[in-house]
Amino acid sequence: MCGIVGYIGNKQALPILLQGLRRLEYRGYDSAGVALVEGNQLRRERSVGRIEELAAKLKGTESASTLGIAHTRWATHGGVTEENAHPHFDCKEVIAVAHNGIIENYKEIRSTLVPKHTLRSQTDSEILTHLIEEHYHGNLRKAVAAALAHVRGTYGLAVVHRDQPDLIIVARMGSPLVIGMGDAEYYIASDPSPMLAHTKRVTFLDDGEIAEVTRSGVHTVTLMDEDVNKCISEIEWDDATAQKQGYEHFMLKEIFDQPAVLKDAIRGRIDLEEGTAHLGGINLTDDQMRSIDRIVLIACGTASYAAMIGKYAFERLVDIPVEVDVASEFRYRDPVINERTLVFAISQSGETLDTLAAIREARRKGAIVRGIVNVVGSTIARETEGGTYIHAGPELAVASTKAFTNMVAVLLLYAVQFGRLKRVTPTTGRRILTEMLEIPKKISIALEQNDAIRQIAQQYSNYSNYLFLGRGMNYPVAMEGALKLKEISYIHSEAYPGGEMKHGPIALLSSTFPVVAIHTKNALYDKMESNIEEVRARGAKVIAIATQGDDRVHEIADEVIWVPATEAILEPLVNTIPLQLFAYHMAIQLGRDVDRPRNLAKSVTVE
Ligand code: M6R
Repeated sequence: MCGIVGYIGNKQALPILLQGLRRLEYRGYDSAGVALVEGNQLRRERSVGRIEELAAKLKGTESASTLGIAHTRWATHGGVTEENAHPHFDCKEVIAVAHNGIIENYKEIRSTLVPKHTLRSQTDSEILTHLIEEHYHGNLRKAVAAALAHVRGTYGLAVVHRDQPDLIIVARMGSPLVIGMGDAEYYIASDPSPMLAHTKRVTFLDDGEIAEVTRSGVHTVTLMDEDVNKCISEIEWDDATAQKQGYEHFMLKEIFDQPAVLKDAIRGRIDLEEGTAHLGGINLTDDQMRSIDRIVLIACGTASYAAMIGKYAFERLVDIPVEVDVASEFRYRDPVINERTLVFAISQSGETLDTLAAIREARRKGAIVRGIVNVVGSTIARETEGGTYIHAGPELAVASTKAFTNMVAVLLLYAVQFGRLKRVTPTTGRRILTEMLEIPKKISIALEQNDAIRQIAQQYSNYSNYLFLGRGMNYPVAMEGALKLKEISYIHSEAYPGGEMKHGPIALLSSTFPVVAIHTKNALYDKMESNIEEVRARGAKVIAIATQGDDRVHEIADEVIWVPATEAILEPLVNTIPLQLFAYHMAIQLGRDVDRPRNLAKSVTVE
């Protein structure tokens, strides 16, 4: 939620900041703003709407400034107005602050500031500028530290002062902040994507740290003013992977990325000789793995549906109880976990606040906590004592696609690895993993249905409601399909296990309420066929996802989307693809903003 960028160096700051904002637009896109230190002036421009509105406002602006900060907002406190857009100024308009996070005690602080300060916005963030103003006596870092001592909540912060043309102060508590290292120039951002075009050497600020960034270096201290030695990490993503590469939308590009990135997720992790997987990042010996008696998978949204697929796989192959917990519920229900519980936090961004809070709670209770994360160096990756990167590359569309399939792939590899220590034989392990190596090709075959799916979307975009049905491992696939559709097309859609439909939702069905049924050839095929018959008996249209060569399906479905056959346990990796394309084409038909759906942000760093 919200993106911050900053630049200090010897180049013109404004184009770098605008480009950085475009890269971070997925984090929020209600309003945006930029503040530049220029001579002895602090210059600011803000605008409601997308980054392009801000860019249009700034068109023709000549600025020689080589130091500035910028912000793209996802509103929490205060409506979407120019006054509420960041950066915020202090009373004298000499300090500018860009903030990502929530200041929980802002009302109390605001009431103490109001008699002496002119507050111009309804945001929680603005109080930071006035607190810094109160504490500023020539040392900006000390003023920021003193101001932060008053606040409760979360922040990623970038601060500049008109009289300090060689300084940006950044601070972090709960909201990510990355510093990119150039040659006598430094980039600041909420995640590494804006700096990929400039540098891959980055350092991640940790909670409770403040850094002074000047043209000659970065000096990091704690809030208690103790020096901190930071490590520099190398980001492996390259800038091209963060571009649309000729596709009309990031979402479509990311859907089509899947054959390639799935290979990245499994590369070097499969041992066919032993019929097992090696995910070394788990950092546990075989004996420690055998001693685990429960697995808890914690995630939100799409990642939680990947987790549900993981549960099916673990239970089938490992023979230990597995629970899936939606992170926002986990920590408020006093979960029963102990030192024999293995908790996996699953997250694309690695910054989802609910997931982070949940793993902190799990750790407090003594669980072994590991991450399954996409963004390298993200907070969840750093706060877990091991785990696995899913290697999906930058995912910039708000609707998650390739991260989902790669999460599922990694969970399946873990299920085989654990399973081989329990009841899976080398032959079974080998069979599953040999087929896993075929999945990138099978995803490519599923993607060939793109045109057929576009045509189906043309006929079906006028319906206001959809029911998605699946059974077994395809139930979470149905949930993911329904989430994709509602997120980007705004069509109401929900998912049910096929067998559960008769216990209530069947009442909704009629000729105006189509059903998308995942009806591939597996052990539950006949059961699902009966469920589809029940749908048809109520006059509802049926769009079936079916296995190539299934000649019975035409008798019960109005439309058929074909996928190649695979091992039952791997079906979700293939069956999800047409649902992603279906959501995409429905949204296009309805003229929606596919990559930036309303009300959503990619990385949800508020509770
Ligand atoms: O970054 P995370 O994987 O932790 O994000 C979790 C959810 O916020 C995310 O999957 C969300 O549901 C997406 N918009 C789904 O497309």
